[in-house]
Amino acid sequence: MSQSITFKVQPGGSLRGEIRVPGDKSMSHRSIMLGSLAEGVTHVRGFLNAEDAMSTLEAFRAMGVEIEGPVNGEVTIHGVGKHGLKAPQKPLYLGNSGTSMRLLSGLLAGQPFDCVLTGDKSLESRPMKRVTAPLAQMGAEIETQENGTAPLHIKGKAGKLKGIHYDMPIASAQVKSCLLLAGMYAEGETSVTEPAPTRDHTERMLSGFGYPVVREGSTAKINNQGKLTATEIDVPSDISSAAFFLVGGSIAPDSDITLKHVGINPTRTGVIDILRLMGANIEVLNEREVGGEPVADLRVRSAQLKGIAIPEHLVPLAIDEFPVLFVAAACAEGKTILTGAKELRVKESDRIQVMADGLQILGVDAQPTEDGMVIQNSQIGSGEVDSHGDHRIAMAFSIAGLRANGPITIKDCANVNTSFPEFKQLATQLGLNLSSI
Ligand code: S3P
Repeated sequence: MSQSITFKVQPGGSLRGEIRVPGDKSMSHRSIMLGSLAEGVTHVRGFLNAEDAMSTLEAFRAMGVEIEGPVNGEVTIHGVGKHGLKAPQKPLYLGNSGTSMRLLSGLLAGQPFDCVLTGDKSLESRPMKRVTAPLAQMGAEIETQENGTAPLHIKGKAGKLKGIHYDMPIASAQVKSCLLLAGMYAEGETSVTEPAPTRDHTERMLSGFGYPVVREGSTAKINNQGKLTATEIDVPSDISSAAFFLVGGSIAPDSDITLKHVGINPTRTGVIDILRLMGANIEVLNEREVGGEPVADLRVRSAQLKGIAIPEHLVPLAIDEFPVLFVAAACAEGKTILTGAKELRVKESDRIQVMADGLQILGVDAQPTEDGMVIQNSQIGSGEVDSHGDHRIAMAFSIAGLRANGPITIKDCANVNTSFPEFKQLATQLGLNLSSI
């Protein structure tokens, strides 16, 4: 159990300077999973040394994979090949990490051993039927709790999984990735169609390891005939971590910041599109490609934002950025309306309710709806809010301090360490007056 941490942010300030935020969480998870199953030694640079990605790393160590690091973001994985994992000696504890649990459930369904996946209170209350139901159609045997939650008891069905076609009812990269990983062990073809584009790091990274994945429109297909060959992976900075500063630099007067080497995969850049629609001044500089993923430096300067109706097609492309986008909305002239974002209710916390509660405590006119929120331009006040152990909510309310008229206290912030342990240091370096107790 991590110690409890409370953040206190003093009002006002500008953000100025140049930083590099830590590595992309989604890619860090996948680099360990695929590097472990590859033949040969994979070197990863830019790995996110934070609790969530470390949960994945420790899980593979527990399954017999020798992994060195992380040291300064470098990890060396001695791949054991597609069929080389060993039975873990005890349940795999995955902390707060939904990505670890959902992707591993697919990957482990076709192994020659049984295992159990557990997590913290938040993770063990999140929906897992979205993966266990399609996996069952493939022949997997996974026992959940009565309401479909973890712990997951996975019975290894090596050689017995069958490929299926699955039309995903929700736009979820975790579900898609889970099924593609299971498809590596299933007879015949496994194909997944998504109702809207979601992050495609699994498909890109599988290709990078030489494993054939066919992409046709909104469908990705895989079979069990491929193999993974070790490679070099350069993980760019996480746009989901950069997002706090994209908003902070926009709402704080006199700000001018540059965020270096940020991943700008088009399935992740919804936050830039939404902020630009709101009038933000964000420049995408030095666009380049690094290891199959587009990367750029992002320069953001203060701007007067205006309220918008957020286009629903951008929702899955900015799914993790709404806590801080709600803060942007409070600072934007007029009214901002979010719809089509029901998924926010089943993230690390119910991000619609928890953000609405906190914003209201701070005097913001924020009305939660079933699938989104309506936020009116408001002066952000002072007060004490509760992040409910949700890292992105803790960081979003820290950024709100830039436009508050008094201090904000944010409770239960230890989980910032799940995705962005350097947040306080980098934010204060840029000019946010943030301390922790
Ligand atoms: C992720 C997918 C998203 C996202 C999560 C990371 C991934 O979840 O919210 O933080 O790495 O595949 P969903 O697939 O549930 O939308």
